[in-house]
Amino acid sequence: MRGQDIEPVAHRYCFPQRSLEERVATWKRTYAEQEEGIRTVALLDQSGEILGYGSLLRRSEYFRDIPEVHDLWIDEGHRGQGLGSRLIGWLEELAVREGYTAIGIGVGLYRDYGEAQKLYFRLGYCPDGTGITYKNTSVTPGESYPVDDDLILWLRKALASSSAR
Ligand SMILES: CC(C)(COP(=O)(O)OP(=O)(O)OC[C@H]1O[C@@H](n2cnc3c(N)ncnc32)[C@H](O)[C@@H]1OP(=O)(O)O)[C@@H](O)C(=O)NCCC(=O)NCCS
Repeated sequence: MRGQDIEPVAHRYCFPQRSLEERVATWKRTYAEQEEGIRTVALLDQSGEILGYGSLLRRSEYFRDIPEVHDLWIDEGHRGQGLGSRLIGWLEELAVREGYTAIGIGVGLYRDYGEAQKLYFRLGYCPDGTGITYKNTSVTPGESYPVDDDLILWLRKALASSSAR
């Protein structure tokens, strides 16, 4: 991602629940994190049209030892064509180049995340064995939690230099 991408990506991905100003501010923060080395943002650009995005987050709030594939989104009209897989593959390759031997990802539990759940399992991501978290803290059996974007199953994948290509 380059600084000049902030405006176009914020315009393209201006979801109804957020104003354009909020989106620009969010993408400015995301770009600043890239400048600080916290993440690398990959944009899928087809002849100037941004078809999706995703990050390699080096300072995950959940994973302590490995980077996280974070904030992944493919334009609704371009899904099911392999773009999400390619984007994840690119981020995995970047992690391998940086010397990481594993990578993680978190996925929500409700229906909107169904495609992502299937895709991550197909790409070799497996549950990390700690169950699910709510707001990054392990849930307690018997307690109630809202089924929202903060209820997450965490997955890991071992990276071999050949598997990332
Ligand atoms: C999850 C998401 C990123 C996947 O992106 P995508 O570009 O559709 O992913 P792909 O095309 O690589 O793979 C999706 C499916 O299409 C299939 N596919 C890939 N290329 C294909 C092709 N050329 N023809 C037909 N099907 C194809 C894949 O096999 C996969 O199927 P499977 O999951 O049943 O195995 C996308 O659905 C999305 O942005 N969802 C909303 C946001 C979201 O959930 N983000 C993740 C948060 S954790």
